[in-house]
Order: sequence, then structure tokens, then C-alpha cells
Amino acid sequence: MPLSTHSVPPLKDKSLLREEAFVNGKWVGAKSGKTFDVHDPASNEKIGSCPEMTREDVVLAIQHAHTAFKSFKATTARERSRLLRRWYELMVENASDLATLITWENGKPLADAKGEVTYAANFFEWFSEEAPRTYGDHIPSSTAGNRIITIRQPVGVCGLITPWNFPAAMVTRKVGPALAAGCTVVVKAPGETPFTALALAELGKRAGIPDGVFNIVTCHDNTPEVGKELCENPTIKKISFTGSTPVGKLLMQQCSGTLKKLSFELGGNAPFIVFDDADVDKAVDGAIAAKFRSSGQTCVCANRIYIQKGIYQAFADKFADKVSNFKVNGGFFEGTTHGPLIHKKAVSKVHDYVEDARAKGANVIMGGQCIDGLGPNFYGMTVITGMKKDMKLHQEETFGPIAGLFEFDTEAEVVELANQSEVGLAGYFYSKDVDRIWRVAEALEVGMVGINTGLVSEPAAPFGGVKQSGFGREGSKYGIDEYTNIKMITFGGIKA
Ligand code: SIN
Repeated sequence: MPLSTHSVPPLKDKSLLREEAFVNGKWVGAKSGKTFDVHDPASNEKIGSCPEMTREDVVLAIQHAHTAFKSFKATTARERSRLLRRWYELMVENASDLATLITWENGKPLADAKGEVTYAANFFEWFSEEAPRTYGDHIPSSTAGNRIITIRQPVGVCGLITPWNFPAAMVTRKVGPALAAGCTVVVKAPGETPFTALALAELGKRAGIPDGVFNIVTCHDNTPEVGKELCENPTIKKISFTGSTPVGKLLMQQCSGTLKKLSFELGGNAPFIVFDDADVDKAVDGAIAAKFRSSGQTCVCANRIYIQKGIYQAFADKFADKVSNFKVNGGFFEGTTHGPLIHKKAVSKVHDYVEDARAKGANVIMGGQCIDGLGPNFYGMTVITGMKKDMKLHQEETFGPIAGLFEFDTEAEVVELANQSEVGLAGYFYSKDVDRIWRVAEALEVGMVGINTGLVSEPAAPFGGVKQSGFGREGSKYGIDEYTNIKMITFGGIKA
């Protein structure tokens, strides 16, 4: 069936679809009056349009956030906790509409979108609980008569640059800790998926978030100009960015003039290793989950799947069998397991990687092309065997539904291969040998390790990378540290 017939369920609350940016508690357009269109990646039909904001619009949003910071930083942690808790509850109450928006603009199947809403809301719940726990320390001084304490203070106005692959969760994972700490924010929503972020703004307004505390600017073609302003504006004290490593490097340069606090969650190239001693069926399930979540469009997706020689063929057969049962279609169709890629550029990149592997001798045993009869953004779920390390799929992040299976001999060889990457976000392995489990977990050069599981993301776990995957941690008890400064206070001349 051609996807132009794919029908979007009506929103229960139509006021959650906003086509304006959100600044100082008000819905606003760009000063220039310009807009850009947002399309459904499944049908390519227009969903709506949003303001194409410029530097001038962003400067205004930053000023409002700065004014709001003066009073918001003085609120009690308990007050901020209640605001986040109320926002969380409103997300739960409006989960079905939020999921509809996510599927509509991002393309992921509705069941996955519902999962994302829960994941996203849980960051507000988590940080509503962390807000009252931003403790300082008492430190014994080495100078007689001195007493030292530390307090943690909000860093100030934060610029939060979020990606399209998790239109809700990457907003809440940054906004939750920022507001919990007492910061105010200007969020730059992704041009591909602004509507979910704007619906969150509407819910934030209903939750009572004070004007100016949470602002969203929207743009598409002007993204470089808007990002630059956020990075260079001296009023912004911190940038949190989720996106590619090359863009992260550019933003870091732009931030250097004002030496901002930074947390960057950048590209990954996750190794997924299955040792001979693993439970193969469980490893297949884990690899499917780690590789094909959001059709391979997450930074923590398995990118290089290494299978030990003795079980390579058994693993490949079972893996391909599972993939052959996927139902690829528009996200609103009943039974769809995997949706389209975000846009044609993503499809071209994925296809280029497949062609590169093919040309270098790999076997494409499934997929490897666009799906006939669906829109141009639908790429077949692809399984490739006989992978070699000179292939692009080994060296670069795919961000698409291609599973390349590599064969290896020894633990030492695979650990070396796994670490032959400039990035280090997530890594996974399956084994039942407890000594090996410790050895490999400690040896992998990544920020997050999944042992006998293909999914590691949750609000309680610190999310972040090493090497050129960036720095800083999101979620968990550490996430709030990124939005606070430690102030040391020494009391002198105390008589014992
Ligand atoms: C990402 O792809 O950037 C985030 C993935 C996750 O939260 O699991």
C-alpha cells in the first residue's frame, strides 16, 4: 500500500500541536516572519510549519532566560521538585498524544514512541527527586581555626541543543537536571522534529513553569547561525549538545571564547561481542535490540557485531531469521515493528555503507536496498556477513538498519578491534565466564557497557562517552552535576 494513505490518529488535545516557538511563556513567531515546513518521514506529507528563527530571536530568548534566572535560582529545591513532578504527571496524562507526535515527525513505530514517552517522562520524575538532594560537603581544613564547606549553585542560563532521534527524551534528559539545579534554559529544537518539544512546552506551561525559565527556539536552515549564537553569547554559561562528533568539535571551538561549561553526547561506534560461551539465543535477542532500536538511529546502537568463530554461523542464521520477521511500514500501521529513516540523506548514507561492504567482498544476505512500494525513506532491514575491518561499516557510525557480522578468534583480538575506534560511547558483550566478564568490561574503551543485555539506557544510569564520544553524564545521580558549580566557603578564625 503506498504510504500516502497512512493515516495519523487525531490528537485528543489538539492544542498540543503548536506551530510557534515558545519564549518567555508566550507562543511567538520569528521576527522575520519566516517559517519552515516539517514533514512526516513515512508519507513525506507536510505536518505543519515552525518559525525559522535567526540570531536576533535567540538573543531575545537568552535575555528572557537571564531575567528569569534571577528569581528562579532563588526558589527552593522542593519548589522546583514539585514543578518537575507536575510536568512528569502531565506527560503521563498526555502520553498518547505525545507518542502520536513522535511517530508523526520522527517515523518510529507507535509502540516505540510510547516507550519513548515513558523514558522521557521518567527523566522529569528522576530529577524531581534529585532536586532536593544537591548536597554540599563539610571538609576538614588543614589550617587551625578554619572550617570549609561546599555548596552547589546553578550554573546560569543553559543552551540545550537536542537531536531528532529522541524528540522527547533528549529534551527531558537535559531540561530535567537543569531546572532541578535552578538553571533556566533555551532549547534549540531539531528542525526535523520540533513538534514534540513544543508540546512539552505547552505541558510545562500548564505545570506552572515560570515564564522565561524554559524557552524553545526553532529553525531549520538557520541551525548553524542559531547554534553559534548559543555557543558564543556570554550570557549562556553552559551548553549541552547531543549530536555528531564533527558538530561537537565545531561547537566546542565556538564555546572557547567564553569558556562555557560543556557536556557533549556525541557519535558512537558500539562494538557488540558474542563469545563462544554465551547463550546464543539471548545474544541474538540482545543484538536485535541493540542494533535495530529506532531502525538503527541511536548513538548507542550496536555498530560492529563481533561473533566468535565457533558460533558464528549459528548466530548469523538465528539473527537473520529474526530480522526476516520484521514488519517495516509507516509507524501508525498496526503491527509495524520498524519505520522509515528520518530523511533521504540518511537513506543515501546507509546505502553507501552497504555498497562499500559489497564492493569489498561482504555478503548482503538480507535487505541492502530501499523497499519497493513504500516511500523513499524506507530502507530494508539489512544483514551482512563476511565483514572486514577495512569496510566503512567497521570504521564509522552507521546510524541505520544495517547489521554487519564480523568473525573473530580470540578475546585479545576482539578487545583490540573493539578499541580501534576514535569514539567510545557504548559497548556490549555476551559471556557466561565471570573472569572474562570483568576483564572485558574493564578493557573496553567506552563510557557504558552492557553485559548480557542490548539495552542500557534508563534514567538511573549515567549516560555518556569517552574519547571522541564526548564528556559529561546525563541522567543518574551524576546528571545534575553538569548544571551546578561547586562553591567553596572557608570560615576562618574559629576558636576551638
Ligand atoms: C541517543 O541516541 O543519543 C540516545 C540514546 C538513548 O538514550 O538510549
